[in-house]
Amino acid sequence: MVWLNIILGLVLLAAFLYWLLVTTEGVFLGRRIVVWLYDITAHKYDEIKGFDDAAERFFVVRPLRHHLRRIPNPLILDVATGTGRLPHYLFDEAQFNGRIIGLDPARKMLNLAVPKLVPYRNRALLVQQTAVPLPFPTDTFDAITCLEALEFLPSAEAALCEMVRVLKPGGILMVTRRRGREAKAFLNRYRSVEQFETFLTHLGLIEVNTQPWQLNYDQVFGKKPEWRMT
Ligand SMILES: C[S@@+](CC[C@H](N)C(=O)[O-])C[C@H]1O[C@@H](n2cnc3c(N)ncnc32)[C@H](O)[C@@H]1O
Repeated sequence: MVWLNIILGLVLLAAFLYWLLVTTEGVFLGRRIVVWLYDITAHKYDEIKGFDDAAERFFVVRPLRHHLRRIPNPLILDVATGTGRLPHYLFDEAQFNGRIIGLDPARKMLNLAVPKLVPYRNRALLVQQTAVPLPFPTDTFDAITCLEALEFLPSAEAALCEMVRVLKPGGILMVTRRRGREAKAFLNRYRSVEQFETFLTHLGLIEVNTQPWQLNYDQVFGKKPEWRMT
């Protein structure tokens, strides 16, 4: 009986640690742990994600280019850029003539982005920095993106406020909302589609809409109005 209790205790402990460190990637332990976990696993990140070129072009590049079609040289900020997924695929698009700043606090993730962006070094900049506060003036970027990251930030709401602040009037926000079975493992950090969209609307965004993307993520779009009532 004692052995059974010990085994049960160990199984529960293992399940708890798995939830704490793997499922929710350390977010309940604080920012430093999240960033440290990304740093120590950075070398495996691209392999684990196994990005599909055609899917990235269709679901990530195409909607962004559509929203930016009238801006010849857009300036884009990719918050939590990681290993440079978004800049890599966007620069790969021959018709894209914009500039991209990729921001992430995990140095080893950024190190893996560097070689991907070397051919575009005049139009790419990587910044080692957290999402809050963003080190840019208000109304700066034509588009802000943040893929597969909001749920790992200390406060998704504070990060979204900052993103909207630095977005230009008329600019587009493209972020992701965690969905599916694992999303609810984030407990009080989970946001339904309605809660997420309502929050973006309260931040002043218009044309807020959610598109199903992957098994675990929706894409959420919003636009900063051209003119604001003061
Ligand atoms: C799942 S990865 C997503 C990376 C990239 N956007 C992509 O789609 O491949 C999450 C990223 O969030 C970054 N991150 C963690 N905490 C952060 C914070 N406080 N501010 C900004 N980025 C953070 C991590 O370093 C990691 O690169």
